[in-house]
Amino acid sequence: MRLQHATWQEVEAYLQRSTGIILPIGSTEQHGPNGLLGTDAICPETIAWALGERHDVLVGPTQNLGMAQHHLAFPGTISLRPSTLVAVLRDTILSLARHGFTHLFFLNGHGGNIASVNAAFAEVLAERSLQRQGGQLELTLHNWFAGRRGRELAESLYGDAEGGHATPSEVSLSWFACPAAVKTAIPSPHVAPKGSARCDADEFRRRFPDGRMGSAPSLASVEHGERFLEAGVEDAWEAYRAFTEA
Ligand code: NI
Repeated sequence: MRLQHATWQEVEAYLQRSTGIILPIGSTEQHGPNGLLGTDAICPETIAWALGERHDVLVGPTQNLGMAQHHLAFPGTISLRPSTLVAVLRDTILSLARHGFTHLFFLNGHGGNIASVNAAFAEVLAERSLQRQGGQLELTLHNWFAGRRGRELAESLYGDAEGGHATPSEVSLSWFACPAAVKTAIPSPHVAPKGSARCDADEFRRRFPDGRMGSAPSLASVEHGERFLEAGVEDAWEAYRAFTEA
């Protein structure tokens, strides 16, 4: 069930049978010549919606904006500062905790969010400890692109050409989710340059002129995307069950 498509009474009834929720989080940032700006949000939400349907898990609204400062030299990218993202996540967590949710499972599609998500968790937990607030609250982060089945599939299909950004795996999954938005551009060179993204936006564009990092997303396909969805749902469901049953 998707929270955005539910009524408050349906959420109240859900809380009688479960206090867990999945929260997709992504980014709005360039993904090279054939990847969609929404890739990092589309991938985790597509996995979360499929999982939610199959296993009666509530899925919250997608956090579509993330920490993407290094992509800002490419048009269309929208970035939150780390401090803004932490504030948004903190208020999201506290809102859900107020209703009685005890297990918040963030399903992430963007490596640049990881530090801020963990900082938000630390902020909330520090606040509760300092104010001696009781009650169970468990928070976790699962990166869909780091799941075992998805990793193995990417390795078998692409090897080293998977790369680190605008990867064929994420491009495939976003294309499967949004077939009307499939792009035909063929990036050149086939495999993009490798390097570190620990830099500002202008330097990032110098290092990675078309936005890709070490990847060959011309290997992507809608058919691969369906396989990444299945792998991603299994990886996330395994992690969600381990989290909520612990
Ligand atoms: Ni991405």
